[in-house]
Amino acid sequence: MELKDVVKEKYGQAALRINAGGSSCCGAASALDGCCDPITSNLYDAAQTGALPEEAVLASLGCGNPTALARLNPGETVLDLGSGGGIDVLLSARRVGPLGKAWGLDMTDEMLALARENQRKAGVENVEFLKGEIERIPLPDNSVDVVISNCVINLSADKDRVLSEAFRVLKPGGRFAVSDVVTRGAVPDDVRQNMLLWVGCIAGALDDYQYVAKLANAGFDAIDIEPTRVYNIEDARTFLTGQGVDVDAIAPQVEGKFMSAFIRAVKPA
Ligand SMILES: C[S@@+](CC[C@H](N)C(=O)[O-])C[C@H]1O[C@@H](n2cnc3c(N)ncnc32)[C@H](O)[C@@H]1O
Repeated sequence: MELKDVVKEKYGQAALRINAGGSSCCGAASALDGCCDPITSNLYDAAQTGALPEEAVLASLGCGNPTALARLNPGETVLDLGSGGGIDVLLSARRVGPLGKAWGLDMTDEMLALARENQRKAGVENVEFLKGEIERIPLPDNSVDVVISNCVINLSADKDRVLSEAFRVLKPGGRFAVSDVVTRGAVPDDVRQNMLLWVGCIAGALDDYQYVAKLANAGFDAIDIEPTRVYNIEDARTFLTGQGVDVDAIAPQVEGKFMSAFIRAVKPA
């Protein structure tokens, strides 16, 4: 199976679980249930979730809250790469108002169906969900003011392509405002693989300096990476033990090195 097929199957199943009234995560909690999953839980405050259908909040599979950190102005066009159940698209649509527009892009049919149903329940009209891949964005050059994304770019096997596509569709002066998992500092390969498996990064997260270099290579300016949640080895203990990992032995190599971050950059005007 190709990596993309693995990702599609994983998120197709997650969408079906949500449709059936279950949690979006494999054994983990959803954004509405602040108890368990250290990655997806408690990302949104009540003022944000209160304005959305419960199903849209339950479908949240992100690792940050890009719309809370991004500047979004009335009348702007926003594109969410890997929009899943649509939570960040619906939040963006409210922020840009009726004169603006929010696009969601996702390759998984079940997620698109869920997102469109959540849009219907939310009664939001300035939203459109597109089927497609973030490596080949089906929108014209210079057509978007802000590209957001929430825990998706780490899933791509061709991150350079994703970043150059984001750059292409942004208008001059447009903003890249993305939540993603990043690593910071040297970590032995096997420890890295196990931790990223726990976080759900199938293709692998970038180290923060690699992210900066790839964004610069794509043409972006004003690049900044701000950690929003640093993962603790204790959060991953049960998972890692199940994988046969000696957690106490690797703990010092993990501390402070795996995190969700908010990544911003600007396409030069
Ligand atoms: C971790 S979920 C995040 C969903 C959403 N951003 C959120 O915060 O709830 C990843 C989503 O990205 C989509 N996805 C992953 N890789 C993709 C790709 N290469 N092109 C388009 N969609 C992709 C999956 O189908 C899934 O819906």
